[in-house]
Amino acid sequence: MSTLIEQAHSREWFYSYDLPDGSSTSTYHDAEIHAIHNTRWQMLQSYLDRNLGADRSGLTALDLASHQGWFAVNMVRAGFASVLGVDARQSHVDDSTLISDIFQMDQLSFQQGDIHDQSPDQLGQFDVVLMLGLLYHLENPVGALRICRSLCKDLCIIETQIVPGMTGFVDYGSYQYVRPLKGSFGIIDEMDDTHGPEASVTGICMVPSLDALLWILEKVGFSKATVLEPPADAYEQLRYHKRVMVAAHV
Ligand SMILES: C[S@@+](CC[C@H](N)C(=O)[O-])C[C@H]1O[C@@H](n2cnc3c(N)ncnc32)[C@H](O)[C@@H]1O
Repeated sequence: MSTLIEQAHSREWFYSYDLPDGSSTSTYHDAEIHAIHNTRWQMLQSYLDRNLGADRSGLTALDLASHQGWFAVNMVRAGFASVLGVDARQSHVDDSTLISDIFQMDQLSFQQGDIHDQSPDQLGQFDVVLMLGLLYHLENPVGALRICRSLCKDLCIIETQIVPGMTGFVDYGSYQYVRPLKGSFGIIDEMDDTHGPEASVTGICMVPSLDALLWILEKVGFSKATVLEPPADAYEQLRYHKRVMVAAHV
């Protein structure tokens, strides 16, 4: 029977994990992919440090779209008492469970599920909810943000691709009834990509503008939403505002 580390080396990885025997998991993307993960963790960790303090021993976290568990593992290392990861793809749940077994992290668990089907009745509520790299793969982003709010006790971190926004006014039924645009969505076609490990599961992707995201976060019940500043050496998409990380507070 193969060891857990041998099992890890027989699989393909989105993240490079440093394993206890000194080896690392090899990734199916080139080395550039590490920059996007490292920048996002740096931004997230710095916001947690500034807002939650050092003692997280009483805090819980939920990682929506946990993929192969890298952010959930980092949350355990950052001191959270328990972390649950949920992902639509069972293969990711299997891979991240293998990683938590290798690292012997009892605080960590993973389960399969579509974000649109999650509810506080089943999962409970969490001090911190992460939704990184997911919103722009969804056909119902507003519903997903409502679910994030319902699962969140304190802080939700959303990291997403955004699209350039339209602004202006619309004759809404008649010229006598003019409404301002609050933001806009771009539709991206992932219909041929749904087999991909990072992709949408339905192929219809509604990507918000930043105005849309911030307006919707307030309307689904967050009291405050702040766009986090990327560091000077951030991965290009974050540095040039093609993606944003937003901290939404209950
Ligand atoms: C771009 S990856 C992001 C993974 C990770 N959160 C990160 O930021 O590195 C998108 C992830 O969303 C998952 N996913 C796609 N649609 C989903 C859905 N409707 N519900 C839950 N997870 C979904 C995919 O399986 C994949 O793991």
